[in-house]
Amino acid sequence: MTATPLTRTDIDHIGRGYDPVATRSSSIHSDCYRDNRFLAVEREQVFHRTWQFVCHEEKLRQPGSYVTASLQGQSIFVARDTGGGLQAFYNVCQHRGHELLQGEGITSTITCPYHAWVYDLNGSLRRARRSELIENFRDNDIRLQAIQVEIFCHLVFVNLDPDASTLAEQSGDLAQEVTTYAPDLGELTFAHRLSYRLKANWKAVVDNFLECYHCPVAHKDFVTLVEMDTYQVKTHGIYSSHMAKAGRTENQAYGIDNVSVTDHAVWYLWPNTTLMRYPGRGNFMVWRFIPVNAEETYEEFDFFFETNTPTDAEMEAIRFIDDVLQPEDIGLVESVQRGMQTPAFNQGRYLVDPQGSGMSEHGVHHFHGLVLDAYRRACNP
Ligand code: FES
Ligand SMILES: [Fe+2]
Repeated sequence: MTATPLTRTDIDHIGRGYDPVATRSSSIHSDCYRDNRFLAVEREQVFHRTWQFVCHEEKLRQPGSYVTASLQGQSIFVARDTGGGLQAFYNVCQHRGHELLQGEGITSTITCPYHAWVYDLNGSLRRARRSELIENFRDNDIRLQAIQVEIFCHLVFVNLDPDASTLAEQSGDLAQEVTTYAPDLGELTFAHRLSYRLKANWKAVVDNFLECYHCPVAHKDFVTLVEMDTYQVKTHGIYSSHMAKAGRTENQAYGIDNVSVTDHAVWYLWPNTTLMRYPGRGNFMVWRFIPVNAEETYEEFDFFFETNTPTDAEMEAIRFIDDVLQPEDIGLVESVQRGMQTPAFNQGRYLVDPQGSGMSEHGVHHFHGLVLDAYRRACNP
């Protein structure tokens, strides 16, 4: 079902006072954080047209390996076919539309659980039971519906938009930056997942992620982990980078004595993915904000380490995120959502530091510009 398109009046309402110059600008209107109509448009125009993370490439190295995922209601899978090619499809049988694969695993063919049609991992129909009874039926005419897939910095992404350009093309220098800070990303392995469901619009969660103006107030331990004076936020096209040096080793967050990684390097990638490297041993994290409805978000936080069992120090870092940082941030964004439910808040201003420090909210302003651009595209497809 197609979402009711936004009108010019809707866009004017949401973006009234938004200015390309952050110091002059107001934030986007709180209605787009509450109203399901905006979420319906975001599903179609944002989540179904942008590159979405699926997994680390390690899960799809072996011929026959597959991983399923749901992209805002669209069931898909990615597979390494028996010839070694990487393929992605809607996870939907062409007979009656039943889903084909569940979870992840290894298989040489795909058998539909409903009437047992059999497909190859390259999407072609191998066999349809008793299809000789169907007039003019040719196996070769039937294929699973393919979607775009790309390995970007050793991470697998898919895009439901057949016309989308590659993530590498869209994201400028991002791959080079990530590779510079995390040259070992291809060798890291999945070690842990944290997940949360919270009562706030996904954009409120992204807003909170994109600035550290709140850090000295709300994250007393985190500000001892990183050297706040070195914190720099830079915006570029569809991503922003958030960089700082590791702080004092006797910080209150978690132990970082004798570690190989001494930078806190974080990237936000439009619309809902963040990529992170924290001080510690070789590590990488992919954190996603997935809308459940207009006022609820599911967060998934995957950790990739040198080994699939976290060391004590890594468990300490995970616990710091799970027990300290996340409860602090969830408390903030849920409070903001409650504030936005009242008539007392519609739009605010951005605190902008001309030095581009983490204390600045220009990353939030950049994100709101991307949201408004997507609404405009939805209005004039
Ligand atoms: S729906 Fe798949 S075989 Fe019938
Ligand atoms: Fe925070």
